[in-house]
Amino acid sequence: MEAPTLFLIILVATMIMILKFKKKSNSDNKLPPGPPGRTIFGNLFDLGSMPHRTLANLKQKYGPVVWLRLGAKNTIVLLNAKSAAELFKNHDLVFVDRFLNEVMKSHDFHKGSIALSPYGPFWRSMKRVMTVQMLVNKKINETTIVRRKCVDDMLMWIEKEANQDKTSSGGIHVARFVFLASFNMLGNLLLSRDLVDPESTEGSEFFSTMLKLMEWSGHPNVADLFPWLKWLDPQGLKRRMNRDLSVALNIVAEFVKERKQSGLKKIDFLEVLLEFEGNGVDEPAKISDHNLNLLILETFLAGSETTSGTIEWAMVELLSKPETMINVKTELNDIVGPRKFEENDIDKCKYLQSVLKETLRLHPPIPFLVPRRAVKDTNFMSYNIPKDTQLFVNVWAIGRDPEHWEEPFSFKPERFIDSKVDYKGQHFELLPFGAGRRICAGIPLAHRMLHLVLGSMLHEFDWEVQDLEASGITDNRERLGVTVRKIVPLKAIPKKVRSII
Ligand code: HEM
Repeated sequence: MEAPTLFLIILVATMIMILKFKKKSNSDNKLPPGPPGRTIFGNLFDLGSMPHRTLANLKQKYGPVVWLRLGAKNTIVLLNAKSAAELFKNHDLVFVDRFLNEVMKSHDFHKGSIALSPYGPFWRSMKRVMTVQMLVNKKINETTIVRRKCVDDMLMWIEKEANQDKTSSGGIHVARFVFLASFNMLGNLLLSRDLVDPESTEGSEFFSTMLKLMEWSGHPNVADLFPWLKWLDPQGLKRRMNRDLSVALNIVAEFVKERKQSGLKKIDFLEVLLEFEGNGVDEPAKISDHNLNLLILETFLAGSETTSGTIEWAMVELLSKPETMINVKTELNDIVGPRKFEENDIDKCKYLQSVLKETLRLHPPIPFLVPRRAVKDTNFMSYNIPKDTQLFVNVWAIGRDPEHWEEPFSFKPERFIDSKVDYKGQHFELLPFGAGRRICAGIPLAHRMLHLVLGSMLHEFDWEVQDLEASGITDNRERLGVTVRKIVPLKAIPKKVRSII
């Protein structure tokens, strides 16, 4: 080969290599687009008090996968069903672990909890116990009577309060009663005991301690955004969580001790947890006392506010749309008639089911799901996501995406009547319970509780509001804690239509 030809070949080959290398290093650094951030704080101050709403608006400018820096935390946010489907179908395992916040590390909560423990043998066997032994339909059927009693109690409290109130304050605080009833339902399912007394404003020590735990764990904490601050605990949240979690753990430990000493066997979750026998190889042989207490506390945290928040929003939507309220009540009258609404009516009440789906579409209680974390560097939809990036799936935005939903902001349960779309993690446009390996463990129970409570409240009472503003209906501001809650709670006036037997 002649020298000039050889030189040309070497030159071309070098240029190809340089181009290839350049392309590779560009794509290595290719992060999703996102708003520019400030030094140190990144995009922290751009989120506002309702970040699920603020972030939903970014889709128009940056597309469905958005990159943010929240303090020192790299974060990606998914804003449409397509990117969520890509995550859950093809990248679930890379994002399977949780992003842990400081407060949840108190008393090693994150190691004993199903929602926070790392993907591995402990998580796998505890999730199996919960979904296969505790929360399958067959098991849930055994405790129908317990939920019925808790709902009857709730209806009685509501009637009593309404009679005492005589609407002087514009009605009753709906979510409070549902929260108490959900708490008692969980107390009975887990421990076979009523834990709250609605007549008392304080409630039991356990109940009030649990409210504090929800407050501390849902409070934004600067130590989560700037890890070098965690030793300082500048807001004192970890200290308070340590203190109150210790109180709650002691109370649960006392319940467990009583059960063990009584020698009685009950049909409840505590019994399942006490009888757990793992193989001791890739799962624990027994659940330690500490983890057992944590699992009980976690179930209260996971199931009470989520349920009461959903019912509150369902009532807000129904009271704002009288024709929808008439439709759901007519269905209940036609199907249930003069008797009480029962759990076995749920399957027949298609409109009621659609009301709850529509509520969860517009108002998912956990709008970002429980944040995930990339366990290694990964390529996601042609972006290179570094290890330890936090991931939010904004299911609030996905439920309102005009590319998927007609009239996305209108409350129209009819859209679900002839639709197969449900919320069990297969339809990525409706994900209030998440999807993939980390999907909510409580869906069958939540499904029963939500329908039983809402169906009963609507069937037993006619509901009205004195004035839209004072009732909290027109004020849709929310506060994001463990769940997203209305800032101004709904107040409505119940009028008895049937006597509760
Ligand atoms: C309206 C009611 C409820 C809603 C909207 C809800 C929603 C959720 C969501 C969004 C997640 C995270 C899913 C993900 O990251 O992909 C979750 C996880 C979880 N939920 Fe629920 N939940 C509800 C009720 C319940 C109930 C009643 C229980 C138990 C009795 C429960 C137990 C759990 C547990 C244990 C996890 C952690 C699962 C894991 O990390 O593997 N939830 N829930």
